[in-house]
Amino acid sequence: MTGPATPIALGADHAGVALKAALKAWLEAAGHPTLDMGTHGTGSVDYPDFAAAACAAVLDGRARFGVLVCGTGIGISMAANRHPGIRCALVHDVTGARLTRLHNDANVIALGARMIGAEVAQDALSAFLTTSFEGGRHERRVRKLTPDWSPRP
Ligand code: RB5
Repeated sequence: MTGPATPIALGADHAGVALKAALKAWLEAAGHPTLDMGTHGTGSVDYPDFAAAACAAVLDGRARFGVLVCGTGIGISMAANRHPGIRCALVHDVTGARLTRLHNDANVIALGARMIGAEVAQDALSAFLTTSFEGGRHERRVRKLTPDWSPRP
């Protein structure tokens, strides 16, 4: 069972580690516990490994949402979406963050550290975390992505 106190899982590669750290600090200051799955340094690593770790935490309920960062956000979002049950949206602004929660019930957000600044990323993450799935006509579509999907309690 997940709720507001359930952590947000974080994952990044070397290109995303600094933005991940900034978002982690912002989340914790805002009262969101985090589960940092790494990477923790600037040495070169492979983004699929950190997508897998954060997605596993979302799928098994240790985390409420996932936040993934790589250079573009592209590779790590591709990696995340290979995990059944994950609906990861690559987001560049508040509008995308809001709409992917409303329409796709996205459970993971991917951000590109080389594409957007920390303030835009933070605003997008804030919108992502505070917007609820709209339901209705979108439920049928989300079930086509995730056949055993059910609304969050
Ligand atoms: C790493 O150099 C870079 O390729 C990675 O962070 C990401 O942008 C891939 O999509």
